[in-house]
This record gives sequence, C-alpha cells and structure tokens, in this order.
Amino acid sequence: MGAAALGVGVLATTGLDVICKKQILCSVSNDKGWASQVHLSWQQDPARSLTVTWRTAKTGSAYAEVRPAGDKQWTRVQARSSAMPRNGVLPRRGAIHRATFSGLQPQTDYEYRVSHDAATKATTSEVFRTRTAPPPGPQTFSFLFFSDTGTIGRPDGLTEGTRKVRDFMIASDAAFLLGGGDYAYGDADARAADPAIVADEWFRQWQPLLSRVPLMAQYGNHESFLRESLSDWLPRFSHPRGYRDGRAYSFDVGNAHFAAMYAPGDGYVPPPDLLDWLDKDLGAARRRGARWLIVYQHDSIYGHGLSHPANPRVRAALMPIFDRHGVELHLSAQDQNYERTYPLRTATPEAAIGSRHPDTYRASEGTVYAKVSPAGKMSERTRDFSLLQGSQPPQVAVRSDRGHHFARVTVHGDDRIEVSVFELLRGDAEPTVLDHFVIHGSTVDPSPAPGPQVGTSRHASLAP
Ligand SMILES: [Fe+2]
Repeated sequence: MGAAALGVGVLATTGLDVICKKQILCSVSNDKGWASQVHLSWQQDPARSLTVTWRTAKTGSAYAEVRPAGDKQWTRVQARSSAMPRNGVLPRRGAIHRATFSGLQPQTDYEYRVSHDAATKATTSEVFRTRTAPPPGPQTFSFLFFSDTGTIGRPDGLTEGTRKVRDFMIASDAAFLLGGGDYAYGDADARAADPAIVADEWFRQWQPLLSRVPLMAQYGNHESFLRESLSDWLPRFSHPRGYRDGRAYSFDVGNAHFAAMYAPGDGYVPPPDLLDWLDKDLGAARRRGARWLIVYQHDSIYGHGLSHPANPRVRAALMPIFDRHGVELHLSAQDQNYERTYPLRTATPEAAIGSRHPDTYRASEGTVYAKVSPAGKMSERTRDFSLLQGSQPPQVAVRSDRGHHFARVTVHGDDRIEVSVFELLRGDAEPTVLDHFVIHGSTVDPSPAPGPQVGTSRHASLAP
C-alpha cells in the first residue's frame, strides 16, 4: 500500500526503508546502524539488576557493558536480539536488543553503554548513568507516574504539553517511572503512515529520561487497538512476564509491591484468568510482607470525563480484588483529566467512603483511586482535555480538566505514602502542585498532610 493511498503525502517508501522528507518522522532511515531508543527497565530484581533495551538496524552480536560509576573496568553482557516487530502497514527493518545486568548492588550508581552495529564508525554508544533501586525493606524512595503523552511536534497541536512535561520529568530524581499507557498515538500522527515509526520516534524523544531512569510500562488502548497492537509493543518494553505474554506483571521495590494490571479501555473487561492472576499476585505479595500495594492500569476506576468515562464493568470486576487485599493506591490514565477519590471500599456505585479528610488518610480506610492524565497530549475527541461531566461525585476529592498531569509518589518506609500531583495549565511554562495527599501505614497521624499546601501559588519542585 503506497503512502498516497493512506492520504499521507509526505511519506514514501523504497524497498524496506523510509525516506525522510521535511516534517515526517525520520527514525528508521536516520538511525542506520547506530544504537537508538535506549531505555531501562527491570525484568529481574530492581535492586540488583538493570535491563537495557535498544534498537539498531541489524540483529545479532549486540552487547552492553556496565561498571560501577567511576570504575575503569567494563563487564560485558551479550544481548538477545530480535527482529523489529512489523506493526503498521509498511515493510520495515531493524532489530531490538535486550541485555540484563545482574549481580548489581542496591541503590548504587552505575554506568553502561550499548553496542552499535558492526559497520558503524564507533563500536559503542555514549556512556549512560543510572542507579539501582533500594533493597527490600522499609526504604524511602520516589517514583513518577505518567501516561497519555503523544510525540512532540505533532502538527495538530494536541501534544502542546508533551515536551514540557517530559523536561520536568527529566529534572526529577525519581528512582523509576510507572507508565500508564498511550505513549505514541501512532494512528493519529499525520507525520507518518506507519504507527510503528511513531513508536520509534517516541522512544527517541524519551531516551534522555528513559536511558537514566527505568520505566515499568503498562499498555493502553493505543498500544492494544487503533492500528497498533500488543505484538508490536510487548517486544519494545522489557519487564517481568507475569500474566500470559507479559501484558500484566508485578515487581517489588523496598516494601512496596507494584502490579501493572492490563485494563486498556475501549470496552475491554479483564477476563477471569487475568482477574485470578491479579488476585493471587496481590495475595502473595501481602503474605511476603509487602507494606504497600500499588496497582496501576490504563482504564480508570473512577472517571467522569467526556472522552473516556470509567467502565462500570471494569470497576465491578476489579474493586472487590482491591478491597480483599487492601490495595492502598490505584493509579490510572486514559481519560485526559485528573480525578482523585477519597479512600473507598466495595464495588457498589455508592462505594463506601472511608474518610472525607481532604488529604490525610490511614491505609485501613480504603483504596485511593487517582486518575492522572494526560502527560502532554489532549483528547482527539474533544480537541481539548476530557471535560468533566456533571457535579463532582461524592467519592471524588479533587478533580481538574484544565491541564496536563503527572504524579510523584514517595514511599516513606512503613510510615506513609506521599502523593503530589503536578498540573501544567495550557500554555504555562511550569507545572504547579494541584493535589497532595498522604496515606499513613499502621499509625494514625492526626496532623494535616506535610508538604505543599494545595491552593497556594507555587512552582513545582520535583525534589523529595
Ligand atoms: Fe487511552
């Protein structure tokens, strides 16, 4: 199928490659044999391993090297390579390489580099620097949650916040990132006919952050449907296998357990075996002694926006599982606005509200549901954010459909989880803190939540 038949006049093909012209995304032809799309994640223990994934033109003989920061001696690890997935409409080439460094020390700085293809002038990439996760136990660490990004520079203007959100995240000292899905929006980017090229571009644009901070990505409707598919996205991200092909998985950092649940939206209701996987996974984590259970997924549990309201069937399927295991925090995406509930229990429409305090809770009071979206890209349906409908439901404590959002969560050992949600208003240069709340562990803290006071004017700080 030619580019003209797709209505994309700027894109043409010759053989297996793509020619760059003017504004189109040039990922495939520009990278040649050079390593690109370098990103980190964890397939094994976050405290003692790192997995690096990258792309070159050819499969085979790829490797990565690691050393403690400041050392001279590199340790080489052979990569596993696979052909680039062929999602999209155009023939393409390239390889994805994946190497895991293991036997590392927790909470330690490391340097690493990856190989180019043999025919390039240099053998290895620039040196990247990163840090392993804290060890098991009551550690203090921070992570960021983000979703619904799109790629910088889209001609329709809907990704007007993406660069700014990304750059603020780059300035963060977070230990890792949770991705809520909907990254590239390959089906809706007029610069390329092939959604996979847009995915290439997304990894290129986010390499400055993802080559330094591990990303544990979950998948949205845009990675599952809409001319993209899980078969394209699953090989690009590297994480534990979990359920079936890896679309749902879990991992532990410090005393927190993270479950990346597959619930991509667009009418998808998790099937019984996926619900069973989640139920058993959370139960096993509690039995191992996890103090905090944090679940994240694309589709929201409480969402009242015009573009992507929550699916009551998803809520009814999942909330009893969250209740059973006392999940403290649930993070979601999809509906391009922010909504955060009080701690809730039960899956009835009038879910029991455990506390009406504005920002300070006990873990025993229920699950707090925070839908944190978008991290740069507005809704195609409204050409705006997803506008909130009706009056504020009683379960919802804070909401806003006026800006882009991302969250920083700090786990303070067994004591508390502290959540700050940043809002970048359209056209603003810097985000401010929209919402800040604390979930306490076993002890009751009668004092107001420490940290930024909501409602005052201040610029965001991403320091802990
Ligand atoms: Fe979505």
